[in-house]
Amino acid sequence: MWKQESAERSLSLVVPLSISEWEGEDVKSTWSGGAAKISHQLKVGTMAAFQLLFLLLVSCAPSSAYPPGHLSQCQIVQKDVLCSDQSLRSAPVNLPPDVQMLDLSRNQVQNLTRETLGFHTGFHRLNLHSNKIHFIQPRLFENMTDLRVLDLSRNHLNVFAHSKTNIGSLKAVESLDLSSNGLYTGMSDYFLTDSPSLANLSLNSNSITKISHNMFRGSLSLKKISLHNNVILEIEDGAFDSLHHLTELDLSKNSITCINDFDLYNLKLFNLSKNSLETFQSDSSDILFKLLSLDLSENKMLYFPDLPEKNELEYLNVSRNQLQTTNVTRNQEKQSILKLCCLKYLDMSYNQLKGIPESFFFSTPLLEVLNVSNNCIHSFSVSHMTPLNKVRVINLSYNSLQSLTFGENTLRSLKKLFLQGNKLTVLDHQIFQRLPSIRHLHLEQNNLQICPSEPKLKDHNHQVPTDCVSFSSVHNLHFLYLSENHLRTLPGNAFVDTPLKLLDLSLNPGLNLHKDSLSGLENSLVHLLLRENNISSLNTDLSSLKCLKHVDLSTNQLNSLLMWNKESSIESLNLQNNNLVTLDHHTILALERHLKTLYMGSNPLSCCDNLSIFRLVHQSAVVVPDIATATCFHEKNSEPVNIKKVTPEMCHRPDVSNYVVGVVVTLLVAMILLGLLIKCCRLRKRKHNRSFNA
Ligand SMILES: *[C@@H]1O[C@H](CO)[C@@H](O)[C@H](O)[C@H]1NC(C)=O
Ligand SMILES: *[C@@H]1O[C@H](CO)[C@@H](O)[C@H](O)[C@H]1NC(C)=O
Ligand SMILES: *[C@@H]1O[C@H](CO)[C@@H](O)[C@H](O)[C@H]1NC(C)=O
Ligand SMILES: *[C@@H]1O[C@H](CO)[C@@H](O)[C@H](O)[C@H]1NC(C)=O
Ligand SMILES: *[C@@H]1O[C@H](CO)[C@@H](O)[C@H](O)[C@H]1NC(C)=O
Ligand SMILES: *[C@@H]1O[C@H](CO)[C@@H](O)[C@H](O)[C@H]1NC(C)=O
Repeated sequence: MWKQESAERSLSLVVPLSISEWEGEDVKSTWSGGAAKISHQLKVGTMAAFQLLFLLLVSCAPSSAYPPGHLSQCQIVQKDVLCSDQSLRSAPVNLPPDVQMLDLSRNQVQNLTRETLGFHTGFHRLNLHSNKIHFIQPRLFENMTDLRVLDLSRNHLNVFAHSKTNIGSLKAVESLDLSSNGLYTGMSDYFLTDSPSLANLSLNSNSITKISHNMFRGSLSLKKISLHNNVILEIEDGAFDSLHHLTELDLSKNSITCINDFDLYNLKLFNLSKNSLETFQSDSSDILFKLLSLDLSENKMLYFPDLPEKNELEYLNVSRNQLQTTNVTRNQEKQSILKLCCLKYLDMSYNQLKGIPESFFFSTPLLEVLNVSNNCIHSFSVSHMTPLNKVRVINLSYNSLQSLTFGENTLRSLKKLFLQGNKLTVLDHQIFQRLPSIRHLHLEQNNLQICPSEPKLKDHNHQVPTDCVSFSSVHNLHFLYLSENHLRTLPGNAFVDTPLKLLDLSLNPGLNLHKDSLSGLENSLVHLLLRENNISSLNTDLSSLKCLKHVDLSTNQLNSLLMWNKESSIESLNLQNNNLVTLDHHTILALERHLKTLYMGSNPLSCCDNLSIFRLVHQSAVVVPDIATATCFHEKNSEPVNIKKVTPEMCHRPDVSNYVVGVVVTLLVAMILLGLLIKCCRLRKRKHNRSFNA
């Protein structure tokens, strides 16, 4: 009730500024309740007077900050007035006369009329998104000759469109947002009949099913059209033909099943992601298409898209389709070879490809990124015929690779290679040494074994190993992931002359680390991951790894921690879920200086043998993120105690009882001695007596 009233007031030319208006319903009720209380308590006494004073102060503060007649709700920045989220039904009345930008978004505007906008016409930008507009006064924008940007998204303009009224001319408007207005097919006509300057139009998230041939006839300057998230099933012939400036078209998330005779020569970006496309077929003219980016991801394509004969396409996404081959639609003979001269980025991930013929790469001399992950590829090879020397990233993860070959002088720019989740068992043991730029190598979830370092001299007895891969002398390799490979051993010097910064050997249970396996990494290794390896003791001295900062040893069987004997630079150490009873005092001393994070939950720690490390935790010198599970045992058979609750005093008690025992024992001994002495004296006396008698 009240809310309505206040809104009406703001509609009728005054910006109300009482506290109730400012804060809304809640404040009003508190205020009136407070007022009642005041009139009652005034009679009571001085306490009440104080309360009154307090209430007055509270209630006056906002109204003095926003004196009546001013744009209290809004923020004014030069010629921009920002009134977002104020429950307003119209613009504040006393807008500065030269206002150029008005943001009335997230308010309660229902009727958009001259009055609602305070009879101003000088706007350059109007933001009215997220209101309840269901009526626009016809020809409202006609004399707003400077209005360039109009945002009407998230309103109820379908109601207005039902009245079959035209909003009239949008002479100067360049950008119009009509998204989320419940508009059906044909309804956009009431907004677009006369918009000669319109370049950018959004009709996202409406219910349009058809793009008719005359949908854009009143807006011939369009450069960018977004129709994302509608239900478009049909595009009439020639719908975009008269839009000579159109360069961006977003039809993603619709229900389009095929594109035939694609002939938008000037289009640069075309998004058809999330439709039901089965075919994409271009017009077969030999005119040059300017298309740079084509997104066909998440459709139902069975064949590679039939792209224009002459194109400059740089980005092509066919991910998440049903491709089983790289052949072009139905026509096996038709050459796709010449069609991808400029392609830099190709995503064919999440399809059903069984392989990619080498000839395919004849057509992609400039390719930089290739993603063919999540397919069924059995073998992949690159030879000097199609060296792919511009490729930086290849993603072959989650396929069924059994063979992988790279010829000499191929892939000279390859920096990142993703091979995780394949069945790789056998690889040419020097395969990675052939990639001069390789930095990131993902080999998780395979079946590889690591070769010992190459012998310095070619020993004639020395046989080329066939069942392992060598990682020594891969001169630019920084990041190596080898988790889940059923690795059995990590031979000595496995990484000499390879400047690894990160080595992940996790989830290889039973992995046997040779004492010198990490030698060569002294000046490079920063991250070492040995999670879930069933390691019971680490025989490698990690203190020689001078750059090492992050070590993960979680979920192993470690029962001692003798890895650092001199000062280390470790910043984070994960010891969660091991068999540690004591954290060696010397190790802790070596770590103390740099350690910031220590995981130590789920270990059978002893409370009193680890006081020095608990002290660091208490002093917050070290953060223990898993502190909730970090417990220790105090006395045999007692409940585990959280390490936060351990105090040095707890550990003195056994000393105290020892002391008591000591005292008791001493007393006992003394008493026995005393007894003996007395007995002895008596004996002597008797003896004496006897001798006397004698
Ligand atoms: C909106 O305008 C119409 C026509 O001018 C009028 O009938 C209606 O009452 C107005 N609605 C509100 C909520 O002001
Ligand atoms: C086009 O309009 C949309 C939505 O109103 C906006 O996000 C985008 O920045 C505009 N683009 C250009 C080029 O004006
Ligand atoms: C195409 O649209 C989808 C869905 O809106 C979006 O996620 C994707 O980033 C767009 N593609 C390009 C190349 O912009
Ligand atoms: C494919 O790989 C590219 C480049 O690494 C990446 O940007 C893209 O997100 C990947 N596609 C999918 C579907 O993961
Ligand atoms: C490679 O593909 C996998 C699986 O789709 C994905 O998780 C990973 O992010 C991709 N890598 C890149 C660099 O896109
Ligand atoms: C882990 O090591 C213990 C001996 O330390 C052995 O008994 C057990 O079988 C190993 N488990 C696995 C999964 O290798």
